[in-house]
Amino acid sequence: MKKDNFFKINKICCIGAGYVGGPTMAVIAKMCRDLEITIVDLDKNKIDLWNSEKLDELPVFEPGLCEIINECRGKNLSFSTNIKEAIESSQMIFIAVNTPTKESGIGAGEASDLGYVESCARDISLYAKDNTIVIEKSTIPVKTADIINKILNCSSSDRKFHILSNPEFLSEGSAIQDLLKPNRVLIGGDNEKAVDGLANIYNRWIDNKKIIKTNVWSAELSKLTSNAFLAQRISSINTISAICEKTGANINEVSKSIGLDKRIGKYFLQHGPGFGGSCFKKDILNLIYISKFYGLPEVAEYWEKVLDINNWQKKRISRIVVNNLFGTLKNKKIAILGFAFKAETNDTRESSAIDICKDLLEEGAYLSIYDPKVDFEKISQELLPNENLINDNMNILSAKTIAMAVDDADAVIILTEWDEFKDICWNDFSEIMRKPSWLFDCRDVIQLNSIDKGKINLWKCGYSI
Ligand code: NAD
Ligand code: UGA
Repeated sequence: MKKDNFFKINKICCIGAGYVGGPTMAVIAKMCRDLEITIVDLDKNKIDLWNSEKLDELPVFEPGLCEIINECRGKNLSFSTNIKEAIESSQMIFIAVNTPTKESGIGAGEASDLGYVESCARDISLYAKDNTIVIEKSTIPVKTADIINKILNCSSSDRKFHILSNPEFLSEGSAIQDLLKPNRVLIGGDNEKAVDGLANIYNRWIDNKKIIKTNVWSAELSKLTSNAFLAQRISSINTISAICEKTGANINEVSKSIGLDKRIGKYFLQHGPGFGGSCFKKDILNLIYISKFYGLPEVAEYWEKVLDINNWQKKRISRIVVNNLFGTLKNKKIAILGFAFKAETNDTRESSAIDICKDLLEEGAYLSIYDPKVDFEKISQELLPNENLINDNMNILSAKTIAMAVDDADAVIILTEWDEFKDICWNDFSEIMRKPSWLFDCRDVIQLNSIDKGKINLWKCGYSI
């Protein structure tokens, strides 16, 4: 590793005030009260919400986040749209902007759109006043540090930029705990001082043994690989859930049995309606693109299958609902419980609920949707992105309570594992449903013995009932 002298780090800036930038910087601010941290974003509305007095209006819902914002905001943590000022005064800059899948041009539908990352690099090149450590926090394709390096180190100024890869492994819904007690922190870089500068920040609350230092490319590729492996496990267990439904094997017993083998491990074996979230699909698509780019079509095909199975699982569920409701959903009310891609988050990006609801709408159903954290504007944007007059569309309705969603419904589909769905007395609720009534439990939240068969028909993903 090369050595270089850096000033003491006391001011940090993070570009991107989203699901990663917000919580990540909030935790650093909490754990390092001597550091001054500014989170900047182009989106004024989002920054206003981060600055809002009403803490329930923060743009990201994460258990424990409000408390940290309350503790640090206005002290050593601030939110701003003044990107220039924040870059000028920081010795360390995190890039935590979105890296969506490219929508057009070369690699459309697979490659990452690095436009937002490039734009950050150009801003840093324009405004940074001195030597600066620049950190890739966004998930990016392997070799992106090369692009950032070319943009930053091409000018004739004396400033030196050191680019590190420090991918984020937090999961939504448990972000604060993941950040406070991570499995590991990964820092890729070839300049020892820069790597240590960042490691010393994490080291204030994370054991040194958990801070892994690698070369930049390993760190970049490890992030994509980690998400691909996690998604692969979900697709694998979902294929087995279908076999269980046909054979009478019980999916939970199978997952428990295999998970007790330490070589397999118990995590990420929960079957369900397929994985959602902003990253698994996009990161696997990115891996597929990279594989093809480097002339490895067999590798690309292998990872493509993980996505194929995820789509198949969602379609399979829609088909099961339609078949059980006599092959048509015309003029039938279906209650959807849960729209977020998982519990404990208000995020709906790539939620399995979107594809499943779209299938049901296509079959003529009208949907009454209840989610404790997702507002109806978000739901309608996901389901009817091109419609301006949502209220005129009679096919989707927002339900303020579970009872409103279920009232007069032919079927209920549980798509997110919110705790409040676990203790519902379905024998009572069946009284307000149309007969014959159906309950489709895609998240394994219903106890089999809690249902009176004469009152409501139950389908549970991964079980033959
Ligand atoms: P996000 O969409 O919630 O937030 C990104 C923010 O960046 C947006 O608010 C956007 O306005 C802002 N932005 C874009 N370009 C900008 C620019 N040039 N200047 C200033 N602001 C700009 O995205 P996210 O979920 O926080 O994800 C960010 C990155 O982190 C992605 O690469 C993602 O793959 C990765 N990641 C996400 C998670 C997660 O749980 N969401 C976890 C780990 C890693
Ligand atoms: C995931 C990874 O877990 C994080 O490590 C990573 O940082 C993040 O992606 C990212 O890069 O964005 P996240 O998407 O927030 O985190 O949530 P997960 O808990 O991984 O769940 C993803 C999806 O898989 C959800 O729809 C969830 O319901 C589903 N899932 C998860 C299952 O169906 N079964 C499981 O056993 C686990």
